[in-house]
Amino acid sequence: MGRPQASQEFIDMLNEALSEEMASIFQYMWDHILARGMESPPIAEKFKELAMTEMRHAYMLAERIDLLGGTPTTKVGEIRVGGDLRQMLEDNLELEYEAIAMYRRLIKQAEREDDPATRRLLEDILKDTEEHARDLESILGK
Ligand SMILES: [Fe+2]
Ligand SMILES: [Fe+2]
Repeated sequence: MGRPQASQEFIDMLNEALSEEMASIFQYMWDHILARGMESPPIAEKFKELAMTEMRHAYMLAERIDLLGGTPTTKVGEIRVGGDLRQMLEDNLELEYEAIAMYRRLIKQAEREDDPATRRLLEDILKDTEEHARDLESILGK
């Protein structure tokens, strides 16, 4: 028993998550740049901080996919940038909600795959993702 075995389905799901993380890196980074001149510098700074967390998530996933014998994708998911600040916040919140649903599915799959280490990694990313959603909700006054 050496490396953990992963099904192709699981690798594909992890690569979908990687695509989404890469999309969120650009979405937050470009929104950071576009929002800098707007009314709220702290929100622009927040976008930058979030972009960096998304990069860490992308790195963690790519490393894990490689360890499981897969090839990390270079495909970037759909990106929605720009508009006014409220639009940016709504678009980013939408992406975080999609990510929460995705990581919950991935955690269930990790259980089926009997892969506790990947499961823990996914739970750590889910925890950050829930915090991102809560941060955006509170900025939006939700
Ligand atoms: Fe993320
Ligand atoms: Fe996030």
